[in-house]
Amino acid sequence: MKVLVIGSGAREHALVRGLLADPVVTAVVAAPGNPGMARDAQCDSLADVTDAAAVLALAARHTVDLVVVGPEAPLVAGVGDALRAAGYAVYGPDAAAARLEGSKAFAKDVMASAGVPTALAHVCTTVAEVALALDALGAPHVVKEDGLAAGKGVVVTDDRETALAHAEACLSRPGGQVVVEEYLDGPEVSVFCICDGSTVRALSPAQDFKRIFDGDHGPNTGGMGAYSPLPWAPAHLADQVIEVIAQPVIDEMRRRGTPFVGTLYVGLAMTSRGPRVVEFNVRFGDPDGQVSLARLLTPLGGLLYAAATGRLEDMDDLHHRPEAAVVLVAASAGYPASSRSGDVISGVPGVSAVSGVSAVSGVEGAVGPDAVVLHAGTALDTEGRLVTAGGRVLNVLATGSDLAEARDTAYRVLGDVSFDGMQYRRDIALAAARGEIHL
Ligand code: AMP
Ligand code: GLY
Repeated sequence: MKVLVIGSGAREHALVRGLLADPVVTAVVAAPGNPGMARDAQCDSLADVTDAAAVLALAARHTVDLVVVGPEAPLVAGVGDALRAAGYAVYGPDAAAARLEGSKAFAKDVMASAGVPTALAHVCTTVAEVALALDALGAPHVVKEDGLAAGKGVVVTDDRETALAHAEACLSRPGGQVVVEEYLDGPEVSVFCICDGSTVRALSPAQDFKRIFDGDHGPNTGGMGAYSPLPWAPAHLADQVIEVIAQPVIDEMRRRGTPFVGTLYVGLAMTSRGPRVVEFNVRFGDPDGQVSLARLLTPLGGLLYAAATGRLEDMDDLHHRPEAAVVLVAASAGYPASSRSGDVISGVPGVSAVSGVSAVSGVEGAVGPDAVVLHAGTALDTEGRLVTAGGRVLNVLATGSDLAEARDTAYRVLGDVSFDGMQYRRDIALAAARGEIHL
């Protein structure tokens, strides 16, 4: 089976590696990929991942059997629709189903129809409505931009003025709409549900660290690190998520005539009243998907192909390895408000300073059997040096017999990596490894 993976981040790098580890997968093409993926698979250029015609042309040129769309933007833009219409097996929803991530108001509506537990919410289109909603729900205030915002459209604050100012900024954009929500207390969990339109299988849950600084301080990011499993979570959490959340949502989407095929990312808060949905996404988490996928034993190619072709029911439940996985994100100077490109990265094993395209084959990701460097915002400069090219630059993903061992390995490997302005959190999985998280 030949697979085309769309995307250029660490999530797609992890997908490429997972697919290549499945014996039924004979080749993987990544587009546009990055210097890390180029080490593992063939990369082909793709100027704009949301350009459906360009993605179709790639699928045809490489005669692939399956297309896996990594990020949300192409899915929301309808790349899945175009590929399906042309007869390809696609892992990733059509645009109508991708609205579960593309519009928070739509997701709330589906949750209401499906009877799924989530935060109370008011959809607002004026500042006056926002003010009323803030007062009705009380502090802490949660204000969410309605459209795609790469995890950065949400403000959680005790300060009413800050909440209002964020709402005003969102509403001033064309078609602006915000969702004002009840604050959900409790640890957050990500559960990745593999869906084929009617059947659901869930990966082992992960926890993501959204804020930029240690101790969950500073602004939200796309995610600064993650770990799996969650020793403190209820034993059958994934099954509970399928029963109470994912299956009802998948049934509701099918009932609406817009079946959901792909990853339903269920973002939960483990509140004192039980799990509540914080958000849905329509793709694997980044970086939280990396740790759940690292623990998945079920071969990935066969699994995603079964989902893409409506045959998940024929598959056994998913198998996971007992080892723990920890992923750390190294971000560039200025992230998340901005990012800096062109800083030379050192300490990524096997990067050789030869010039030209052939330098790509000198970028080695694996760091022994228990750790790998996954590339995200990296590039090769004209001298063939590995440089930063975005906010989240790379991941170190490590496994170990328990969380303490996995995080020791991850931090040791990250300790060798450096670039000007590099930011990373020191406390990923720390509280969990110490047994300090209690429900
Ligand atoms: P979202 O884009 O909806 O996932 O929100 C991003 C982050 O904001 C979440 O991962 C939470 O950390 C936080 N957040 C979102 N909604 C709520 C809520 N209702 N209560 C508390 N925190 C929230
Ligand atoms: N890490 C959070 C996300 O992928 O949305």
